[in-house]
Amino acid sequence: MDFRKRIDELRDEIRKHDNRYYVLDDPSISDGEYDQLMQELIRLENENPDSITEDSPSQRVGGKVREKFKAVPHRFPLLSLDNAFSFEELREFDRRISKVARDISYMAELKIDGVSISLLYENGILTGATTRGDGVVGEDVTANIRTIKNIPLRILTSLPRVEVRGEIYMPKREFARLNQEKEEKGERVFANPRNAAAGSLRQLDPSITSSRALASFIYDVQYMEAYTLTKQKDALQFLREQGFAVNSEARFCQDISEVFAYAEEYLGKRHELPYEIDGVVVKLNSFAEREELGQTAKSPRWAIAYKFPAEEKETVLRAVEINVGRTGIIAPTAILEPVSLAGTTVSRASLHNFDLIKERDIRIGDAVIVHKAGDIIPEVLRSLPDKRDGSEHLILPPANCPACNSQSFRLEGEVAYRCENINCPAQLKESLVFFASREAMDIDGLGPALIEQLVENKIVNNIDELYCLDEVQLSNLERMGSKSAVNLLNALEESKKRPLNRLITALGIRHIGSKSARILTRYYSDIDDFFRLSVEELILVPDIGVKMAESIVSFFAEARNRETIENLKARGLNTKQEGGSSGQLLLSGKTFVLTGALSKLSRSQAAEIIENMGGKVSSSVSKKTDYVVAGEEPGSKYDKALQLGVKILNEAEFEKMLEEYMG
Ligand code: IVH
Repeated sequence: MDFRKRIDELRDEIRKHDNRYYVLDDPSISDGEYDQLMQELIRLENENPDSITEDSPSQRVGGKVREKFKAVPHRFPLLSLDNAFSFEELREFDRRISKVARDISYMAELKIDGVSISLLYENGILTGATTRGDGVVGEDVTANIRTIKNIPLRILTSLPRVEVRGEIYMPKREFARLNQEKEEKGERVFANPRNAAAGSLRQLDPSITSSRALASFIYDVQYMEAYTLTKQKDALQFLREQGFAVNSEARFCQDISEVFAYAEEYLGKRHELPYEIDGVVVKLNSFAEREELGQTAKSPRWAIAYKFPAEEKETVLRAVEINVGRTGIIAPTAILEPVSLAGTTVSRASLHNFDLIKERDIRIGDAVIVHKAGDIIPEVLRSLPDKRDGSEHLILPPANCPACNSQSFRLEGEVAYRCENINCPAQLKESLVFFASREAMDIDGLGPALIEQLVENKIVNNIDELYCLDEVQLSNLERMGSKSAVNLLNALEESKKRPLNRLITALGIRHIGSKSARILTRYYSDIDDFFRLSVEELILVPDIGVKMAESIVSFFAEARNRETIENLKARGLNTKQEGGSSGQLLLSGKTFVLTGALSKLSRSQAAEIIENMGGKVSSSVSKKTDYVVAGEEPGSKYDKALQLGVKILNEAEFEKMLEEYMG
């Protein structure tokens, strides 16, 4: 079959499934089947690069990292809404309208708590996306908007120009996930899903936006040729037919009393919705009547936002619990006098970090105001200092880890205090899982289930005790025969020979991944070197920043980590790097890109060799690439290399090069 025809077929098919999955919430094929279609499309497009169009469903992420956002003036000012805070004010609004309008029926819509966006489709294809900004000039966020899966890259109509407006939001679950991830990394959390959506949208690197599951609801047709719509109700239907995600809770209301009922209903239901709302938007349904009413400088007279009252409660902070998470973060949790809040009883709330406690002047015994961030995460917002009687206590960051008593540390640029003890009981399982993992010591057969047993039964209490296991101990464990026990012991024995970069990786030092470990061991080829390193010296090493340097220094400063390393040495682990030298490295300054499968080495092994010899491995081909190493079935990087005239090496040539260099 003609590949063009197949590409068109696949694109149509994938668009249909994207719409069913992301917009209608009604998928008709499995994820696996979907992936197959997408892979086939990507393969055909790679084979025929000329066929790639920007509205292809394969092109959602692909935008480059930018320096800054372009300012774009809006063709029509993006108005804002007046607010009503009570039903009385809503009735006022209705009265004002009835003085002018005759048909006073409304569309009541949920007020999604996100960021306003304007989208431009030219000849049916998404060509622009602009944030509201100050309403007159916004920022061009097209590349980021393309990554949002329920925004169609192409709509049904091919009119020359269609402009629509809607809201970009972050679903509650994604907000909770992102904040947890941030907390685990020791970073500041987002205050609410709106900030999170705004922060995610304003990323210069679209791949970051893509990694955050943003979504959209579109609610307004701002402009199109041959505009025949006469009612908001029809506009929503039209948008739906074009493939946009339109909120399905919107309701036609004959009069303002039906709007009250709607608002009442959603005031009760708001916690059940998967996204946060902060009110209800009431819009006059008839566009002709809207014309009559007109607008003020900032907002239309035909619509209003009824804002829900903030859900906050007062309670008392009884105590603060300090816990160490599995990643070593020492986090404070508020223990509260139980209070009913946003649909549940709350007795614990996040205090996030000690900076925030200080900023918000929160003390034990204080009367405090609590709310739920993103409608799910209970949080202490502030204290009520006027209610103090003098019996309150300050909450101070702990000098020591509550689980193992090691000294706590705080890294540059992080808000969290951490425990850096690799053997801290709160972190031991995680430390061990990582220690044994493929990219670290690669200990075959030592997975999470076995580690769970070893730690729970107190057989392994320290990383180095892994190397004291014997066959009897192991074969007594569940699902462990003597054969697997012997295999594991062999794997442990084997792992002792790994080069130093593996061991450095395996220690799980914050911010030091396998790549940084390889760089470090090129300069410091004996683990003893690490004990005497200073931040000042480390930041001179290429690609090692302050955060990494501080992390290394604090890790090796911890007495228990030093002890573990001494023990590992005593148990016979290799702690040196062969070939690590201080002299000129053989592949210094050369950048490689790997594509396709090599027969003798895995990609990560090849990368390790290149980096050990001073070369750099990059994931994308550019003019600066020195060599592309192409194995079996190379991907698009191969084509790119051809295009740019970058030298391509096959496996044999690559091997020969390494041999030559190694002399
Ligand atoms: S209509 C002129 N409808 O609320 C029409 N806005 O406070 C203006 N918003 O800037 C917008 N959900 O970002 C409208 N269903 C909805 C909305 C909505 C959320 C936001 C929007 C607007 C702000 C006004």
